[in-house]
Amino acid sequence: MVLDWMPGETASAVEKLDLTLEVPSVPEIDVLLSKTVLFRGKKFRPTLCFLMSQMLQVPLETMHPYARAAEFVHAATLAHDDVIDESQTRRNRPTLNARVSNARAVLAGDLLLARVMAELSSLGEVAIIHDLAMTVEELVHGEWLQLEARKIATVNRQHLETVAKKKTASLMVWSCVAPARIARLDFKILDAARRFGEALGVAFQMIDDIIDYDPTSEKPFAQDIREGLVNFVTLEMLENNPGLLEPIQALLGEETSPSEWPWQPYELLSACDRVRARAQAKLEVADQTLSQISQFLNSLNSEALQGLRSILVYLRERIR
Ligand code: FPP
Ligand code: MG
Repeated sequence: MVLDWMPGETASAVEKLDLTLEVPSVPEIDVLLSKTVLFRGKKFRPTLCFLMSQMLQVPLETMHPYARAAEFVHAATLAHDDVIDESQTRRNRPTLNARVSNARAVLAGDLLLARVMAELSSLGEVAIIHDLAMTVEELVHGEWLQLEARKIATVNRQHLETVAKKKTASLMVWSCVAPARIARLDFKILDAARRFGEALGVAFQMIDDIIDYDPTSEKPFAQDIREGLVNFVTLEMLENNPGLLEPIQALLGEETSPSEWPWQPYELLSACDRVRARAQAKLEVADQTLSQISQFLNSLNSEALQGLRSILVYLRERIR
């Protein structure tokens, strides 16, 4: 992940993160995963996990299996998500389901989860494993809620925030809380780590939704609309102009061309601006939470604190 600034130890731990599986029973799964959901990921969650560990003065080698687990669970969710969304490409390459089949993509995701369970259980940190099981449940719940809202233009902000917390923020929260658990820190720091991950994750989703409407991004323009989903930007347009409700409802889940978009260009631009401001406010909450953590601790690694702040800068830059 290209950050404004990252301590050398974290940068090297992220770079050296071992993402090989070696599955003797089904050797081709390794190759398939390394060409798809494990191919050149940003390793955003491992980065969070290592930076939080370094800040809390937990040795990075100790966190390696947890950072690996975060990336494997993330990769499993992508394998399954591409089946659910019937996506044919990810990061400009054919998805696992497009290369083999939906059934095999689901199984490959299951295998990643099985590997995580086996590796983490051998370390005996029951609270972290319990947190992860609850995180997987949140991921499923978030995806489920999103599915239920498909083709419904009247979804509200509370629904979108809940989905973002569960689907996007929950694994970031786990990646931040696990180091605090290893450091045996008390509840108020665990809670602050959770609030940091949550604010960051919701901002991340808002930024993704702005990028969904960016014609210059690598993703297809307004893909969420094609998938039948109202995102934070669409919601903002609908709140500002209720007259868009019917035409947007008619577009949800359809393959449409730009000539059919019912909004005016300025409506889209100003909706993106408002979502940008909301994302910025979440990033500020995340920043304040970092300040609280540093006040709670007697000592911390200030380079890693700066590294975590540079994640906030990186996200801010993504939507400039
Ligand atoms: C990507 O969303 C999807 C997620 C972040 C979570 C998906 C969760 C599940 C499929 C349920 C849980 C599954 C497991 C294996 C625990 P997106 O479609 O908005 O983003 P995209 O553009 O990257 O596809
Ligand atoms: Mg998807």
